[in-house]
Amino acid sequence: MSVSIDLKGKKAIVFGIANDKSIAWHIAKKLDEAGCRIGASYQARTEQWSVPLMKELHNPVYAQCDVVDDALLDSFFKKMKDELGEVDFLIHSIAFAKREHLQGKFMNVDRRGYQVAHEVSAYSLAELSRRVAPMMRNNGAIIAMTYLGSEKAVPGYNIMGVAKAALESSVRYLAYDLGDRQIRVNAISAGPIATLAASGIANFGEMLLNYIAKAPLKRNITADEVADCALFLCSDLSKAITGQVIYVDAGYSIMGT
Ligand SMILES: NC(=O)c1ccc[n+]([C@@H]2O[C@H](COP(=O)([O-])OP(=O)(O)OC[C@H]3O[C@@H](n4cnc5c(N)ncnc54)[C@H](O)[C@@H]3O)[C@@H](O)[C@H]2O)c1
Repeated sequence: MSVSIDLKGKKAIVFGIANDKSIAWHIAKKLDEAGCRIGASYQARTEQWSVPLMKELHNPVYAQCDVVDDALLDSFFKKMKDELGEVDFLIHSIAFAKREHLQGKFMNVDRRGYQVAHEVSAYSLAELSRRVAPMMRNNGAIIAMTYLGSEKAVPGYNIMGVAKAALESSVRYLAYDLGDRQIRVNAISAGPIATLAASGIANFGEMLLNYIAKAPLKRNITADEVADCALFLCSDLSKAITGQVIYVDAGYSIMGT
């Protein structure tokens, strides 16, 4: 049996397209192919790679945004409201921590580093959900991206693991907040994928090799496979799933060694 997902008439706001390796880009492409109109944000520092990609989508709306800048958030959401009206989906595929806090010992993180990682990687999900909720149609979906380092100590992942724990907990509270409107909030816990963000993690190469050695499927995963899961979570096929962390990790997270 083949099931094709039709998102014609739907609209999504996507955060996190830096370049063609970004998980957010793979999700945006997949939603676009299913007929969903994309509103996307990009950071000033990635403009030269992000903007040419947007032009590959059908009738996109895009603007610069940064989740730590209230004025940019205001202008971004005004543009989305003016051009898209109502939306159905929010994709939160962003994270940031200082490079020096993604190596060595976790206890060496300083107060500011801890704050920055949480503000960008976790708090922003609540902020973006609050801003998008008034524009969202009932039966919509919000999806965030997380990693196993939220629940296990993964050497090098450090402060990002702590921020991802906050993100996953936020997913559960937001699922409760928005459940009465049949808006579902879930996270995808992806295995390691070589992206710009991943390049900041000291032990990243080792993480990739570990998955090939230990995951039941004996391989790494692709951003396209993560996007397939996002497509499912945006569709009616997942209409009773909310507040969950869904693993797209070749099964690595079930292993005890
Ligand atoms: N690559 C992996 O191995 C992996 C695994 C599991 C989860 N994730 C998560 O997937 C998500 C996407 O990361 P990616 O791997 O595609 O890397 P990426 O570098 O392509 O994407 C990260 C995005 O975050 C954006 N960003 C950072 N700070 C921001 C800010 N202040 N305001 C707005 N945007 C900001 C960047 O512009 C970029 O687009 C992240 O949440 C990451 O933690 C990645």
